[in-house]
Amino acid sequence: MTSAVKKDPRDMTSRNHTVVTYFQFLPFSSIPEIQGSLFCLVLLMYISTLVGNILIIIITMVDAALHSPMYFFLKNLSFLEIGYTTSTIPKMLVNLLTKRKEISFLGCATQMYAFSLFGITECCLLAAMAYDRYLAICHPLHYMTVMSWNTCFLLSAVSWLVGVLVALGQTTLIFTLPYCGPKRINHFFCDLPPLLKLACGATYKNEITIYIVVVVFIMVPFLFIVVSYVQILHTIFKMPTAKGKRKTFSTCFSHLVVVTLFYGSGIVTYLRPKAFYSSSSNKLLSLSYTLMSPMMNPLIYSLRNKEVKQALKRLIARKISM
Ligand SMILES: *[C@@H]1O[C@H](CO)[C@@H](O)[C@H](O)[C@H]1NC(C)=O
Repeated sequence: MTSAVKKDPRDMTSRNHTVVTYFQFLPFSSIPEIQGSLFCLVLLMYISTLVGNILIIIITMVDAALHSPMYFFLKNLSFLEIGYTTSTIPKMLVNLLTKRKEISFLGCATQMYAFSLFGITECCLLAAMAYDRYLAICHPLHYMTVMSWNTCFLLSAVSWLVGVLVALGQTTLIFTLPYCGPKRINHFFCDLPPLLKLACGATYKNEITIYIVVVVFIMVPFLFIVVSYVQILHTIFKMPTAKGKRKTFSTCFSHLVVVTLFYGSGIVTYLRPKAFYSSSSNKLLSLSYTLMSPMMNPLIYSLRNKEVKQALKRLIARKISM
């Protein structure tokens, strides 16, 4: 066997080629001095993501005024964001501190599965939430009948089911490819493009599958959200009072900004041809959908909202009186 890759005693040898049993992440940046500050920044962002989202779950659960479909979706989104960030960020933080940045083959597959499950579910759930807002603002008289609790449970259950199944298919397709040589991942988690780069078989089937998944589960929901918000803005401009107009406009605008950040960075990352995968700009782009969006969502969707602020005050008042 004349392989250029140095053999590792932990690698099993089968049919003349080594089978990779673990992967190794490359350092986040080629400048070692920034690893420490990067660690602090990411840790801070991760903690604020957890705190913000846990707070939303607690207030939507204890406050009776927030028992409505919109807050059911928000609670579900917060629950999702916690899982989504936890699937990648803690491992990244450990890697920023240690020299051996390894992950087992199974660990890598599990990470990809969890990350895609939460990511695809989020794409669908955000679309369901936009539909909920569209109905509430553009068709307020029909809102109660159309967005019943049943519809609301159904929409979120379908989002989760789609996430579970698509992620399972996608991950299986990628991890049944042969991995026989390089095991260095030029990324901070087991994302699809960097893993495809390491596979030694033909990957065109996987690339086509990724394109289809991105179009159906990222681009279509994104267009759906944009169309819903255009309808919402149209309704707002016909509103009689300037105050209501400004407030609803600012809410919709901030929703659109975070949605565009999340879907936009995802689309750019996954639709880029394989040849452009390795650039370090990719890691920064990935940080915007793995960490920036989950951190901003609770702020944008809930904590700016008057009802949530009042519920938060009630919760604090109750704690103090106890
Ligand atoms: C989110 O929605 C799913 C499907 O309706 C449900 O099973 C799950 O319990 C919800 N989670 C939270 C925290 O609301």
